[in-house]
Order: sequence, then C-alpha cells, then structure tokens
Amino acid sequence: MAKMTSSAYQNDLSYIHHVGFNFFARGAAPGLLQIFRRHGIHQGRVIDLGCGSGIWAAELVRAGYDVLGVDQSKAMIRLARKKAPQAKFVRASFLDVKLPACDMVTSLGECLCYLFDAKNGPKELTKLFGRVYEALRPGGLFIFDIAQPGQIKKNDRIRNFAGPDWTILREADEDRERMVLTRRMVVFRKVGKLYRRSEETHRLRLYWGADLARILREIGFNARVLRAYGKYPLMGNRVAVLAKKP
Ligand SMILES: C[S@@+](CC[C@H](N)C(=O)[O-])C[C@H]1O[C@@H](n2cnc3c(N)ncnc32)[C@H](O)[C@@H]1O
Repeated sequence: MAKMTSSAYQNDLSYIHHVGFNFFARGAAPGLLQIFRRHGIHQGRVIDLGCGSGIWAAELVRAGYDVLGVDQSKAMIRLARKKAPQAKFVRASFLDVKLPACDMVTSLGECLCYLFDAKNGPKELTKLFGRVYEALRPGGLFIFDIAQPGQIKKNDRIRNFAGPDWTILREADEDRERMVLTRRMVVFRKVGKLYRRSEETHRLRLYWGADLARILREIGFNARVLRAYGKYPLMGNRVAVLAKKP
C-alpha cells in the first residue's frame, strides 16, 4: 500500500455514502455502459479511480468487465470488496498507484478533485493523465467527472442530509480565487440505541472541464466535455470529460 496521508471517508461516512449517496453511481452506470458500447468496448479491464464502496464496480462486473478499483479509504475498500467480490481492489492514492494495461479508466463522483492526498493539484493531475494515456490501449477511454467553480448556490452554504439511521450537518465554503471548496461535516450514525458523532473536512480543487479537456488533448487524447452520462444529467455545475486514446 502506498503511504496514505488522509483519514477521510472513515467508517461512518463511508457507510453513509454507501447507503445514502449510492444514487449517483447507480444513476450514471447505464449511460456510462452505453458510452463504452458505442465505442466498441464490450469487455476488458476497467480501472476505477476513487472506487468508493464499489457500486460502479459491481455494475461493471455485472456487465462483463474485469475491474480494478483504487481508493485511499480503508473503510470504502472494505465495503467495495463485499459489494463486488469478483473485482480486485487496492488501497492507494490514485496519484501513486501503478496503472496496469487497461481498456478503460473511470473516476466517478468528483474524486479527482479531492485534496486528501496532499500533493494533489493541477500538476499531479496532469502527470496522472499522462500515466492513464500510457496504460490505455489505443481506442481506450478515460472518463471522469469533476466539480467546477460555482458549487455554492444562494442559501446553500449550510445543509443537512438525513437517512433512517444517519444525519450529516454540512457547511461549505468556496474560495473562488484559489478554486478550492471546503466541506465541513458533522456526522451522526446510529449504533445500537445511540448516535455516534464524528467529523470530517473535505477540500476539493475545482476545475473547469474545458481546461482539463485541453490538457488531455495536449497529451494526445481526443477529449470533450459532457453534461450528462447518457440520460443522467450532472447536477450542480459538475461536468464529465470523455477522453479517447487514438
Ligand atoms: C464522493 S466519493 C465517490 C466514490 C465512488 N466513485 C462513487 O461514485 O460512489 C470520492 C472517493 O474518492 C476517494 N479518493 C479521493 N482522493 C483519492 C486519492 N487521492 N486516491 C484514491 N482515492 C481517493 C475517496 O476515498 C472516496 O471514496
């Protein structure tokens, strides 16, 4: 395992992501699979960067792909191994992990923006794009989504989210100049009769999709920005980038 510098997505937030925020990976899956098929990729190895609790990995396995999931969170990897036992998972930062030869690389849920790995940022991301290019076979696809600037709407800075056995109180701030979004969360999860409290602060570097598509083209990809995964729209000023190695 590569050296981990973050304790983000600990047990309770990982559990809550898995049971309460699985709608994104589930909703995106049909459109993504349609994109793969449209590009003639019906089988092969998919590397999923920031695989979380394995929801997308399970969809990929069901569709007949071999999956390697990468995530920095121990708790997420544990959930992923249960959710998609046929897939392979490694706990590592996607900035360090060795990328084997593959047909596709994916990253869903703005993972590439997270600053859990202290060295993440535009330079490291550009290096990662280069390594993805080397790992992909000609005709292979790289697809990911990101958060763009403008994440906080009017009256949206403080929000609460809740499920049957959990609650998150979230406060967000966006530094427009440094293009950094900070989400401070107080997390409550019911354990037995009581609620356990934990806290996590997540920082994300925001990018314009068009800027990342330009960097990918400089590396040699054909790249374009998408507003949806098939029929599933990306909400809240998020976009996806679809890059193909010629
Ligand atoms: C919002 S979750 C999305 C999870 C999953 N892709 C999904 O859509 O359900 C972001 C994930 O990215 C992971 N992550 C963030 N930075 C990472 C890094 N440098 N290396 C590996 N995983 C990372 C987190 O641990 C977390 O599981």
